[in-house]
Amino acid sequence: MSAFPVTRLRRLRRTGALRDLVRETTVSVDDLVMPLFVAPEALPNARLPGLARHTVESVVREVEELVRLGVPAVLLFGIPEEKDEDGSGAWVDDGIVQQALRALRPRFSELVLMTDVCLCEYTSHGHCGVVAADGQVDNDASLDLITRAAVSHAEAGADVVCPSDMMDGRVGAIREALPQLPIVSYAVKYASAFYGPFRDVADSAPAFGDRRGYQMDPGNVREALRECEQDVAEGADVLMVKPALPYLDVLRAVRDRFDLPLAAYNVSGEYAMLKAAAAAGDLDERAAATEALTSIRRAGADLIFTYWAKEFASWP
Ligand code: PBG
Repeated sequence: MSAFPVTRLRRLRRTGALRDLVRETTVSVDDLVMPLFVAPEALPNARLPGLARHTVESVVREVEELVRLGVPAVLLFGIPEEKDEDGSGAWVDDGIVQQALRALRPRFSELVLMTDVCLCEYTSHGHCGVVAADGQVDNDASLDLITRAAVSHAEAGADVVCPSDMMDGRVGAIREALPQLPIVSYAVKYASAFYGPFRDVADSAPAFGDRRGYQMDPGNVREALRECEQDVAEGADVLMVKPALPYLDVLRAVRDRFDLPLAAYNVSGEYAMLKAAAAAGDLDERAAATEALTSIRRAGADLIFTYWAKEFASWP
């Protein structure tokens, strides 16, 4: 190893073209998935444009624009007209996501249509599974309903299903029902404070208690690898770590241990933080967002679910 003055690391930083040639990690719109919320009524969001609600009609126009901008994939969330104990809106044939899929599928054959599979946007209590008489979320009783949701999404035209409920065994249950469909597992999902803006848009904050009985404790990384091991054994095709920025070490640990494609979810709170700082004039949004997304890729993510997908694709 030669030292200064033989080695001068600044030599390759002199011009933009040189820097471009030797850059190790880049972010491309090809790596991004845009989350979209479909609801009975539209609700624009001036402060956080990526967290707006669309109707089935307006989501078609939104997707047209995304496709024109080159965004390759969307992740659909649904907010139903009415919520109930079992989250039936998640799995009925005419549910809001199923309607959106039927509107989008024939119009955009190349677009990768992903769906979030969970009960929390559909249950009156806001939990991700069925609540038993003792007030606990019943793991095994939830699996059947979660699988029904995944199957009905597949029937309506989804290319990929993404279970985010954190019940044990849900990847295996969905895999058994859908042997051919890719599953992006929210394998490593933390009980995070960074989901706030999402819960406002999806109206899915738990009515009582919290999600710490099923989502992961933020202090754990060995447990994250065990979650991944389980999901690989159950038939997941892609592993996901969520949130992204406060968990870059977890992304790296999963990347080093597993060879499956790895996804990161750059969640609503991460988006809101930079939006707020940019709105206050404290930082340049485009530069900061690009740097944040680059860090997620550098930590090991192949694909990134991000509310910036549309804005990123439209930046010249
Ligand atoms: C659950 C789900 C959540 C998010 C994605 N899927 C919310 C939660 O677990 O409370 C959060 C995404 C975000 O904050 O951007 N269906």
